[in-house]
Amino acid sequence: MQKEFKKIIESELASIQEKGLFKEERIINSKQGREITVGKKKYLNFCSNNYLGLSGKKELIAAGKKALEKWGFGLSSVRFICGTLQIHKDLEKRLATFMGYQDAILYSSCFDANTGLFQTLLTDQDAVISDELNHASIIDGIRLAKAERSVYKHSDMADLEEKLKAAAQKRLRMIVTDGVFSMEGDIAKIKEICDLAEKYNALVVMDDSHATGFMGKTGRGTHEYAGVFRRGSGQVGNRIDFITSTFGKALGGASGGFIVSSKENISFLRQRSRNYIFSNSLAPVIASVTAFVIDYIMAHKEPHQALWKNTRQFRKGMQEAGFTVSPMEHPIVPIMLGDATVAKAMAQELFKEGIYVIGFSYPVVPVGKARIRVQLSAAHTQKDIDRAVDAFARIGRKMKIIR
Ligand SMILES: Cc1ncc(COP(=O)(O)O)c(C=O)c1O
Repeated sequence: MQKEFKKIIESELASIQEKGLFKEERIINSKQGREITVGKKKYLNFCSNNYLGLSGKKELIAAGKKALEKWGFGLSSVRFICGTLQIHKDLEKRLATFMGYQDAILYSSCFDANTGLFQTLLTDQDAVISDELNHASIIDGIRLAKAERSVYKHSDMADLEEKLKAAAQKRLRMIVTDGVFSMEGDIAKIKEICDLAEKYNALVVMDDSHATGFMGKTGRGTHEYAGVFRRGSGQVGNRIDFITSTFGKALGGASGGFIVSSKENISFLRQRSRNYIFSNSLAPVIASVTAFVIDYIMAHKEPHQALWKNTRQFRKGMQEAGFTVSPMEHPIVPIMLGDATVAKAMAQELFKEGIYVIGFSYPVVPVGKARIRVQLSAAHTQKDIDRAVDAFARIGRKMKIIR
């Protein structure tokens, strides 16, 4: 059997290589930041989720050192045995306040939060209705639930309404969407989704991994951006029932995830969510530094402002250079190239110029929709962005992608 299995894996790997879909992992020899070291050379980094530029920031490192001294490295326990520290409760409280909800629950990742949510809440008498471009962790999370599943066309409210009507007889209806879609940088029609949820008596779940910390006027997320958030109202003013999100992007970028909702909903998840009950507690250093990050971003407006200034500068520069850039308002800027080999080749050319970006292809995006996904950070300088736009324009002309 081992021989046959080896053959299967080798043939799959060869096919991935042939199609130009093999994902290399470059080894980085420095901290995460605007500039990173690969081998001995420095590169401007335009592909991390380090939106607020906090990942390698000295204040966070100092907070981490203190936390390690105070709380140690690991807990060797799940939360309900001997793995709940005061710092976990402090972080949950801060998250709830920041997001405008009554309570929060921590997970080891947002992937875990998403796979721990639907199976806990839904039964075979329920229906779950999901946007077709939702993140893989939502898709997997829904697969684990016994509810009837349907998928609506991306951000298509008429299709969502049809699916809601079809689920009218179910005990519960639940709409699930990303707040911001990670491969497109486009923003869900949250207000319309909430209106439909109200009309058809459905719950709303939003994964806001690519928004928490910087979308909306004060960075609360897509619910603030969309105007379905009322600060300090607890659950009451918020039209989204559950928000899931990550610490692995704007909030310092280590790892970990969370869900916010009402007191009762979170209490129920603590009792029943398998990924919470049967998985180790979030590392104390992450809990502690993430709590620091929440305080930091509430006290410092500069990272938020710098991120949006940089986003506008890059989008404008690329449009002027002749690239087709979506009109979305998000630091994810996909440069659509279609063919996987073109995306890979362009990313390699940019790499030679000291610009670190990655070509995305199937299965991360659909076949024929390969792209380079550029991500802006508050840490970038104006000069960094000019350099990137200039390199894109020169290589784009050389490869006949633009004129
Ligand atoms: C929309 C979305 N949800 C969930 C995740 C998973 O988050 P985590 O890295 O915390 O597991 C990601 C990460 O890529 C994401 O983009």
